[in-house]
Amino acid sequence: MNIQDIIEIKRDGHKLSKEQIEYFVNNYTNGNITDYQAAALVMAIYMNGMDEEEITNLTLAMANSGDILDLSELGIVVDKHSTGGIGDKVTLILAPIIASLGIPVAKMSGRGLGYTGGTADKLEAIPGYNVVLDEKQFIENVKEIGISLITQTANLAPADKKIYALRDSINCVESIPLIASSIMSKKIASGANKIVLDVTCGSGAFMKTKENAKKLAETMEKMGKLAERETVAVITNMDQPLGKYVGNTLEVIEAIEALNGHWQEDVKEVVLLLGANMIKLAGKGDDLEENKVKMLEQIENGEALSKFKELVVKQGGDASYIEDLEKFPKAKYKLPVIATKSGIVNKLNAEEVGKIAMKLGAGRLRKEDEIIKEVGIELNKKVGNNVEIGDILAYIHGNNEELTEKAVIDLRNVYEIE
Ligand code: URA
Repeated sequence: MNIQDIIEIKRDGHKLSKEQIEYFVNNYTNGNITDYQAAALVMAIYMNGMDEEEITNLTLAMANSGDILDLSELGIVVDKHSTGGIGDKVTLILAPIIASLGIPVAKMSGRGLGYTGGTADKLEAIPGYNVVLDEKQFIENVKEIGISLITQTANLAPADKKIYALRDSINCVESIPLIASSIMSKKIASGANKIVLDVTCGSGAFMKTKENAKKLAETMEKMGKLAERETVAVITNMDQPLGKYVGNTLEVIEAIEALNGHWQEDVKEVVLLLGANMIKLAGKGDDLEENKVKMLEQIENGEALSKFKELVVKQGGDASYIEDLEKFPKAKYKLPVIATKSGIVNKLNAEEVGKIAMKLGAGRLRKEDEIIKEVGIELNKKVGNNVEIGDILAYIHGNNEELTEKAVIDLRNVYEIE
């Protein structure tokens, strides 16, 4: 077998065998296949697609490229994963609610490439919080307090790490077989037996249309079934950013406010929808509406917030920041974006908002870039809101005066007011 033949088969639109897929994954991970050969194959997959059997074989080969965590001693563990979006702080709110209901949460989250930080970056905005635990400590924490949120360990699906970075660099992320295998390989390797997937759809998501989001959701549900991990995928809207804030510290603040009962409606809707399904998969309630009520009770009685504090302390973080949000470091500049037109906000393209946040330093252009935690965007007006000339549409939180002023102009142009 050799890589040239494998590239040719996919280039010409034919099906790859299990052995050919395993050969590619194993030899690319260990460095025997070059980046340019892998790039050619990835592009051929992007152009010509894969059938279900190929996607399953790719998923399993990537999952098996590193450690497969054994969480069986924790009982039923329900994992959650999002296909990504702008202002997505859902895990920070959802995980402690679910853990406070006695359902173990053992979750590994990524760092963001692209527009904003990932959940691991956001957690690091809490001073002292350590996202890098080894697998033993990770499991120990879940046993002790019912929850641990860490970043992916080095040896979790290493093939996906390499292939994802390559896809990112050659603009081949937005492919259903490649996204499905990337996500499901990590979920299978990280040991959960039940999985809830948030498939985002809209301008700030990889899936821009409902039709493609549905296809991706169905593909991942099938992969989960074939791997004997019960999987439910829900489709959520990502046409505009989720919630009020975009940026790492700012999103942590919004998450803590939500745990205190001060929710943004769109965030609340997504958290409750995903959580209700997690509770159902955990066997703790079949009625989704009742499950949502249970979740809201955990907010009202303060249990979810207590669980979040317990998590922060356990992972070395300073819980005094949770009690006093004013303690979080602030960006040097906070400039208003003022409306120059009256009307109703018709559109607020999530991807464009994400790009502005990234330029301020809230995200990474390259893997090695440092994130600036305190910078970002505060959205005062969102789609459907009424606006008068002179209203403050948003604030830009920036550390560099010139970039902050530029972001003000850019964001004003993203608001479509009719
Ligand atoms: N998230 C992932 O983990 N992988 C993808 O390919 C896309 C989103």
